[in-house]
Amino acid sequence: MKLSSSSKKFDEVDADVLVVAGFDSNDLEPVDGKFEGVLKDFFATCTGLKQWRLVPAGGKIKAKYVLIINAGKKEKASLESLRKLAGFTVRKVRDQGFKSFATLLTEIDIPGTSPAERAQAVAEGVILGNYRFDKYKTLDKEKRNALDHAFIISNEKDAVEKGKILAECACLCRDLQNECPSVLTPESFAEEAKKLEEFGVKVTVFDKKKCEEEGLRALLAVNRGSVNEPRFVIMEYNGGGKKVALVGKGITFDSGGLDIKPAEAMLDMKMDMSGAGVVLSTMKAAALLELPVNLIGVFAATENMLGENAYKQGDVVKAYNGKTIEILHTDAEGRVVLADALSYTEKNLKPDVVVDLATLTGACVVALGSFCAGVMGRDDSQSLISQLLSSGAYTGERLWQLPFWQDYHELVKADHADVQNIGKVKKQAGAITAGTFLSAFVEKTPWAHIDIAGPAWSEKSEDYFEKGGTGFGVRMLTDFLEKFK
Ligand code: BES
Ligand code: ZN
Ligand code: ZN
Repeated sequence: MKLSSSSKKFDEVDADVLVVAGFDSNDLEPVDGKFEGVLKDFFATCTGLKQWRLVPAGGKIKAKYVLIINAGKKEKASLESLRKLAGFTVRKVRDQGFKSFATLLTEIDIPGTSPAERAQAVAEGVILGNYRFDKYKTLDKEKRNALDHAFIISNEKDAVEKGKILAECACLCRDLQNECPSVLTPESFAEEAKKLEEFGVKVTVFDKKKCEEEGLRALLAVNRGSVNEPRFVIMEYNGGGKKVALVGKGITFDSGGLDIKPAEAMLDMKMDMSGAGVVLSTMKAAALLELPVNLIGVFAATENMLGENAYKQGDVVKAYNGKTIEILHTDAEGRVVLADALSYTEKNLKPDVVVDLATLTGACVVALGSFCAGVMGRDDSQSLISQLLSSGAYTGERLWQLPFWQDYHELVKADHADVQNIGKVKKQAGAITAGTFLSAFVEKTPWAHIDIAGPAWSEKSEDYFEKGGTGFGVRMLTDFLEKFK
């Protein structure tokens, strides 16, 4: 689907459908004028958010139909509700079999927002809402409804373009999350990263031998049960300014290892590389938007399998920074590979700040559900975490801060090594103890850990989500990088 901004008047755009939305008919006076009260009548009878009516335009405007949408209550409106509305409408128009539409959604008056912000949000919602992972569908592909062209009626051309880039990068992340685990192996994942070279990103890939030479022993330990070799990937884009490192968990399939997961829990575990997918996709967004930041993206990719040589409960692993890890649970593998990725990044790449992203714990999903990610870290001034929180609130990819007191750090001290990879008290504070474990591998750099286990995956197709990978984090991080001080 092509997306473009159009500065034509609503009655002049040549598309199958004109999409209009408002809180009441007053918002849509010019359109209502043409349609002699149809909108007034609609708003009088349809009072709830997302209620809609499709009206034949009867030659009064260039489009053949008008789709009227109720935008709900003005007090509740926000850029996020606009984004959702855009996602909702694109699905509606597509599923009715239309090929093109023009949307006036940018005209909704949301207090405290600018026309550019609204145009960007609508562009994001349209691209995200139209996303489908259908590369493996062969039977009904021809018959499926698909859109050719979307027009956003707006003079904010740059904002539409920005929203489009952001959403397309989030969709790149979704593609990586949704890809089959036997296709997106560590090796092919690294090749996906290599593709960023085309956009001016420098990409370095360590194969297994190089990981051995470098001493990435924790990554290698998790990899031992798998026939597919690991990869360690470093991506660099230098737009000047502060040096920010993003580090991602790249488990391309998490079986749990010898602590094998029940079948049900393994179903979605191809998405356990979401953190790395977000890092890769954010690198692309930063490069395309030419953000003034010196950005480094790092991810450690491996499967967590249970082959004959798999790492075992009771093993002690020496991580890249020399600290020892007692393996008490092979399904807590993400933190083990991140131990190497974080300490390698801090020592060799010397960033001003580090942010890691990982589908790290089921406990975080229990605590927060899928509406937000958990954030915690060592950030004495709280400046890094505050900036992340505010970018989360701004983009709708919300974060919630978890406590990080010394008491929690005590819970990962090991009997037979420096740290252990699960907390001492079963079923308590699992998301936080995963974080305090990681803190042993970032010595002094301000650091935030974001657990995206909940929001990385959507169980249903709704608004701008499609069942499967969500790309959660790409828009939030790009906003953070853009504003980072
Ligand atoms: N990849 C999982 C966490 C996860 C769970 C992500 C659900 C997305 C949805 C992680 O590697 C894991 O298995 N963690 C264990 C840790 C436990 C053994 C301490 C968990 O959360 O159960
Ligand atoms: Zn696991
Ligand atoms: Zn995992």
